[in-house]
Amino acid sequence: MSQFTLWKTSWSLHVLTYRRLTDVLCVLELTMDETVEAYRGDLVQIPCQYNFTDNAKPSLVMIQWFVSGLRTRIFYSDNDQEMVDGDTEYSTRIQVNSDPQGSVLTLQDVLLLDEREFICQVNGLAAGNAEGRTNLRVFAPPQPPVIEGVLTGISVTNEALSKVASCEAQNSFPKPNITWYRNDLPLVPAQGYVNVVTLVSREPEGFFTVQSELQYKVVREDRHARFTCEVHYLVPGAARTAESRDVNITVHYPTTMVELWKESPPGPVKEGDTVELRCHGDGNPPPPFIFNREQVRKDPEGALGSSGDVLVLTEVTRSDSGVYQCRPQDSQSRASVMGDMLLTVHYLDPVVVVPRDSEVMFKGESLTATCNALSSLETTAVWYKNGKQVGRGHTLTLADATYATSGEYVCEVTVPSLPALRTSGSVHIIVQGAPQLSEEREVELEEATGRLVNLSCEAQGHPLPTISWSIVGTQTWREVVNRASENTAHSVVSVKVTSDVSALCNASNDMGAEVKSFRITATEGSGVVIVVIILSLLLLAILGSVVYFLHKKGKIPCGRSGKQEITKEMLSKDDIVVELQADPKAEQAELLKGANGAPKAPGDQVHMPLIMNVVLTGPEL
Ligand SMILES: *[C@@H]1O[C@H](CO)[C@@H](O)[C@H](O)[C@H]1NC(C)=O
Ligand SMILES: *[C@@H]1O[C@H](CO)[C@@H](O)[C@H](O)[C@H]1NC(C)=O
Ligand SMILES: *[C@@H]1O[C@H](CO)[C@@H](O)[C@H](O)[C@H]1NC(C)=O
Ligand SMILES: *[C@@H]1O[C@H](CO)[C@@H](O)[C@H](O)[C@H]1NC(C)=O
Repeated sequence: MSQFTLWKTSWSLHVLTYRRLTDVLCVLELTMDETVEAYRGDLVQIPCQYNFTDNAKPSLVMIQWFVSGLRTRIFYSDNDQEMVDGDTEYSTRIQVNSDPQGSVLTLQDVLLLDEREFICQVNGLAAGNAEGRTNLRVFAPPQPPVIEGVLTGISVTNEALSKVASCEAQNSFPKPNITWYRNDLPLVPAQGYVNVVTLVSREPEGFFTVQSELQYKVVREDRHARFTCEVHYLVPGAARTAESRDVNITVHYPTTMVELWKESPPGPVKEGDTVELRCHGDGNPPPPFIFNREQVRKDPEGALGSSGDVLVLTEVTRSDSGVYQCRPQDSQSRASVMGDMLLTVHYLDPVVVVPRDSEVMFKGESLTATCNALSSLETTAVWYKNGKQVGRGHTLTLADATYATSGEYVCEVTVPSLPALRTSGSVHIIVQGAPQLSEEREVELEEATGRLVNLSCEAQGHPLPTISWSIVGTQTWREVVNRASENTAHSVVSVKVTSDVSALCNASNDMGAEVKSFRITATEGSGVVIVVIILSLLLLAILGSVVYFLHKKGKIPCGRSGKQEITKEMLSKDDIVVELQADPKAEQAELLKGANGAPKAPGDQVHMPLIMNVVLTGPEL
């Protein structure tokens, strides 16, 4: 019974309240709604009310329903029968309920073609007859509008209006309207600016499909504009709208302004750089550009090779400095539209140091060196010697030259505003002069005989001094060091001290000579030798005592033979002959002493004074 509920709703909502009296007879009043509205597919009721005056109650009442057009009858009833006419399009879809006050036609599954008049005729014969009509209006909302923007670019230079977008609303009833908006503001048709072409088609079922094309004079600002269409349609008792999505368009417009700038490198340009100049215009689509250099004098310079909007200059030199121009290549843009810029290529030429290469100066002289490099920018110069800074500025003064002044002076020129630019040159300064000894001229020393001693002699000078030695007092010497640097010669001799030695070191060059003298006083033998001799003597003394003791006991034969044996042994070993001689008086005294003094223990050592003659002999003696 949901069908019935729907019917109710439909009826109560959509029946217009305005009524008219179709016939004002004294006996029969008939009332019908002028219009009844319904959605397609709905169920709708069309009431037809009548009233006979009390004094004219008819005996027979005939009720017939017709539809407009050929006035086809679709229903008939009288006191005896009710009949839906067969063979009409309503045969299956209507139902009529009648009572003494009225008749209600119920139509289900409303079609678009049902939009027509439904006529209700009541006939009471002698009591009179009357008829009324209700206009049934059927509604079908359209599908949401579909918009299509033109995808190709639209040129603002087009003379005529250009198609910008199309919009379609399908399957609606009654016919809907389509309106256009640009940035949410309605576009009202205006001669030369806006035109809307509408195409309406009717489907077999009765639906309308409306297509609308917006024709429009595109301007540059439209590149950011949003276009929408809106469909306006009616529903029972109301008007509704449905909006499409946004579309935008591609606007083509000529270039009116061009800019040219240096894209890379950032900062100032120096020789050798690869430079990229970029040209940009306000036209769309961006046209290709022609680059050229401003024509200085008359020599014509052709177009410079470029790719699109970039001009690449490789390994620029100062001659690439100048004004560059670019202009769009398309025909639409005016020839005067041009961008330009000044390109400055900075440079730093090789440095020129004066004096060049190398310069000889005499000791004590002064010299001013200069260092310059041609540049498009301000330069600074710094002087270095052996990696250490020795001066700033484009001149360097070397005053009162010494040998330490000699050397390589490097001048480095830089450009503070463009640090990548730097160059350097150098000058070699040679200080010429006689040899100059770096240590004291006279050396006196003492050294033990037999020792080696090193004598050192170092001299500066230019040309490089040669060092010669003359050594008196020893044959045994040799040079152990002989070194030379740029202007310093160094010689060391190792001398064996055999006696007093005097040595002269003569450092000489073309400019002169300088002499250093050494005096070595030889000192006598060493303490070690003395100690050895004393120890030997002590040993001999003990040996002597033993010999004497044995002699007294008679163990060793006295006289020449014993002495000779010892002598032989000694000679064979040490080449030393020791002669032992006992003093008879001393011997006696010692014996007396023993008798008067303490008793002599057996085995007591005999104290034996000796006189020793030590004769050192060699085998050659
Ligand atoms: C369509 O436009 C016409 C003319 O402006 C207007 O009379 C009609 O009511 C409109 N229809 C709808 C559905 O808005
Ligand atoms: C146009 O619309 C597309 C898609 O909606 C968007 O990506 C594009 O940025 C728009 N163009 C402009 C110029 O607004
Ligand atoms: C002398 O100099 C040489 C070479 O430098 C060195 O080898 C030697 O030890 C030195 N001798 C003395 C006694 O200093
Ligand atoms: C040193 O040598 C130079 C050059 O050989 C010589 O003229 C000069 O007389 C020498 N001086 C001495 C003191 O030997």
